[in-house]
Amino acid sequence: MNRVFFIGAGPGDPDLLTLRGARLLEQATTVFTPDPLDQTFARLLRGKKIHSPFDYYFDELLALIDACRQKGPVAFLVPGDLTFYAPFQALVDTLGENAEVIPGVGIANAASARLKKTLDLPGVCNRAIIASPRTLGDDENAPDLADLAAPGVTLLIYMNNLPLEELVVQLRRGYGRSVPMALLHRLGLPGEEILLGDLDTIVDLTAGRDFFNLGPDNRRPALTLVIVGETLTASPGRDWWDFRREHIWRHRS
Ligand SMILES: C[S@@+](CC[C@H](N)C(=O)[O-])C[C@H]1O[C@@H](n2cnc3c(N)ncnc32)[C@H](O)[C@@H]1O
Repeated sequence: MNRVFFIGAGPGDPDLLTLRGARLLEQATTVFTPDPLDQTFARLLRGKKIHSPFDYYFDELLALIDACRQKGPVAFLVPGDLTFYAPFQALVDTLGENAEVIPGVGIANAASARLKKTLDLPGVCNRAIIASPRTLGDDENAPDLADLAAPGVTLLIYMNNLPLEELVVQLRRGYGRSVPMALLHRLGLPGEEILLGDLDTIVDLTAGRDFFNLGPDNRRPALTLVIVGETLTASPGRDWWDFRREHIWRHRS
């Protein structure tokens, strides 16, 4: 029987699909894709049967996948890829040997490229933490972002569900002072917007816009990634290169 390919689709721009992902997508007769990837990938989806996975409960979805697999290979477009916060793990596990996962450009990778900044920098940032206030838990011992934020940490915050003012207060508690902060909205999609400021300025930079779908009408996580930490504006300089060349990279006979 035909297999089901969970293809890391990247942030939204089909140019960021891997060659392998593009080949498997081309072969698929049915594609399950959440919005907005159904729109941005429209040209590559022409002539295929398209479904939105979130239109179905789990057993309905499995039955539909099985029916589609009789006709040809099935593909899922996974926003970013499966590495972080992907909703498809239960499907991948249930399909077992019939599922294959294709890596893609994660949102963190796309963000780093867009900002033209590596998210670690020796002497500036010695660890990066990926977290979401949505999944940290709400029992009394659950950590909050203040527990994760600290000097030397680059924090990547997915699916933020806190009002920006409150988020900034938690971050300031953790960092102990203002540090650079970026909001990356709709990366690789129409309407892309990047705000780069710091804990003191970011609220004003939004000019009151809701980048996180916090209003009552739309409860789906907004397509906004938050990155916080000194590495966003740090620049290592020439000595950084020469020191590493001398002590790490240079071939020694
Ligand atoms: C369910 S997670 C998906 C993460 C994805 N699996 C990855 O590889 O990074 C959804 C969250 O990822 C971030 N996100 C997804 N697509 C994005 C985009 N195009 N631009 C900015 N952030 C995005 C937002 O924080 C959003 O709430």
